[in-house]
Amino acid sequence: MKKYVLFLCCCITFLAGAQNELSLKYSLMPWPKEINENSEKFLIHEDLTLSINAEDTGRVYGKAVTFLRRLADRSGVFIKEGLPVLGKKGSIQISFDTVSNLTVNEDESYFLYIDEKGVQIKAITDVGAMHGLETLLQLVQKNELNYFFPGVVIKDAPRFVWRGLMIDVARHFQPLAVIKRNLDAMASVKLNVFHWHLTDDQGFRVASKVYPKLQKLASDGQFYTHEQLKEVVAYAANLGIRVVPEFDVPGHASALLAAYPELGSKEGYNHSIERFAGVFNPTLNPIKDGTYEFLNTLFTEITPLFPDVYFHIGGDENEGKHWDESKEIQAFKIANNLKSNHDLQTYFNIRLEKILNNLGKKLMGWDEIMTPNMPTTAVIHSWRGPQEGMLEGGTLIAAAKAGYQTVLSNGYYIDRMLPVAHHYATDPIGNSKLTKEERALILGGEATMWSELVTPQTIDSRIWPRTAAIAERFWSPKEVNDVENMKLRLRAVSARLEALGITHIKNRDLLLRNMSDYKEISSLKVLSNICEPLKVYSRNKGGTEYSSFSPLTLFADACVVDAEDAVGFKKAVVFLSKDRTKSNLGAVLAYLEIWSENDRNFNKISNTPKLALLKPLSKNLSELASFLITAFKKKSISSKEYAKALINIEIISKPFMDTEVAIAVPLNNLIMYCQEHFLSE
Ligand code: ACM
Repeated sequence: MKKYVLFLCCCITFLAGAQNELSLKYSLMPWPKEINENSEKFLIHEDLTLSINAEDTGRVYGKAVTFLRRLADRSGVFIKEGLPVLGKKGSIQISFDTVSNLTVNEDESYFLYIDEKGVQIKAITDVGAMHGLETLLQLVQKNELNYFFPGVVIKDAPRFVWRGLMIDVARHFQPLAVIKRNLDAMASVKLNVFHWHLTDDQGFRVASKVYPKLQKLASDGQFYTHEQLKEVVAYAANLGIRVVPEFDVPGHASALLAAYPELGSKEGYNHSIERFAGVFNPTLNPIKDGTYEFLNTLFTEITPLFPDVYFHIGGDENEGKHWDESKEIQAFKIANNLKSNHDLQTYFNIRLEKILNNLGKKLMGWDEIMTPNMPTTAVIHSWRGPQEGMLEGGTLIAAAKAGYQTVLSNGYYIDRMLPVAHHYATDPIGNSKLTKEERALILGGEATMWSELVTPQTIDSRIWPRTAAIAERFWSPKEVNDVENMKLRLRAVSARLEALGITHIKNRDLLLRNMSDYKEISSLKVLSNICEPLKVYSRNKGGTEYSSFSPLTLFADACVVDAEDAVGFKKAVVFLSKDRTKSNLGAVLAYLEIWSENDRNFNKISNTPKLALLKPLSKNLSELASFLITAFKKKSISSKEYAKALINIEIISKPFMDTEVAIAVPLNNLIMYCQEHFLSE
């Protein structure tokens, strides 16, 4: 009998990889390494309690308390006395062996078991246990009567030890609240490194007591105090997240040099905070001892605020123009047999590494720092694609093969506004052949949120939900790679992120209300659901050049990648072109009906300078949608109607207000379909 019950309980075993039944049932993200299902369930009820097996630093206790809050909010159950107690008495029992020091190789695995009697979470470290609690929250299910945890057994552990999100707070400053809510979201998808890009041409965001001109002259008053930095580091640590700060040198230094121009490379240059986006010339002077004294003093002051051993020095995009324009620097290069500016930068990096090593830090930099003379003690952060003469696999693989620890961001630039499928398909290792030692040097990856085009109002919609899919790429086995399955789960993840405080959904309405001068926005929403921000930085090219104080409440800011109706419509058109069934046609017509009606509503609100440029989009879209509806209903079009449709689509295919109309291609396909099947002469 016992055997029979066991057989029933463990009836299905699903390993990660293939798209399977369980990944259609449970919106877990990242998908676990191994999940088995049994036929039981644990009801979420008012007497539910939590227990912790060991004294912890308060981290697991804190997590358990927020778990209770989130569980009650999600389920609507009035939990009476759930607070965690010490010892094995709770209906949700959490146990772990040690407290993690949050170093790079800490164990993060966990085991989760659910049956009708309760839930057990077991882990080696407290951070592993906290991951188990996040998974448990993702498992909440409901039927008509109850919310419950389904009976599952999960054995989970990450594929990569470094799973990061970088946020640039220099181009547009991001207050503490933005950082904290994004840390919460990171923890919910098991990201464990917050890379804080703190300085750049447009601002130096850290206060210094020894160099107070940094906050006075290099930050526009928008900087973090030491107390605030410590607060964020502690907040992150409580979530099991390491903080790696970045101070970008020797380039990207316009702001720093606005405060301390004596450290610049070009004599007499009038340094100021940069207002535009791009790559600029102001660069620290690498031949002056004063530069190293300054950095030594500054880093001596700053490094104790950041307990993590990794310290990012940027090092990217230094074209060395101001070095070329300095006779002294040229003479120094010759005297020291430094043949190129790369060699000179390596000289700078090696001196900087000594300073950081003395402060107990490990130097990390963008992949430009990987030059032949750079010691392999440095950590290479790969952001560019393969460079000339490099083996397949780009700078990440080249770095590992050369003996450097390395982290990948190429392919995870979320500010490029590329679809989630693109990032999801980027695997850090791909098919590269690596030895065991080389593989161990590949620590993982980071999504990068550069902030040239975001404010606190819009940053969340650029990070989320796509970063959750990237988190899965870093955590889950490589074989978890079914895009459609991921997208299904991502819908649920996106809603949960909003519940957690991320503003990516609700702020879109806020921006549209602003655009319409607080009128009814449904017609504007229809348009924003089919338009996507221009991709790969083309928004900031040509026509409009955005600067620090340009508006970022425009139509493009309210639009997102993978625009919802565009995605749905594309699919519907594919189905229709394969098979013209009544239901496939109905799905396409449902979209067309909305668009055909939309211009009438849009005209009620469009008489404002902020919306005038959308009028041609709205008008041509409605005309084209009406044409297509009639064509499919009458199964006949005239050449005159066809010619008009071609004009409509030509207009719609152009960018509008820094967005592209993401349905232009499927609309064009429908016109072609009509031409082929319905054109009567
Ligand atoms: C970079 O994107 N310049 C690292």
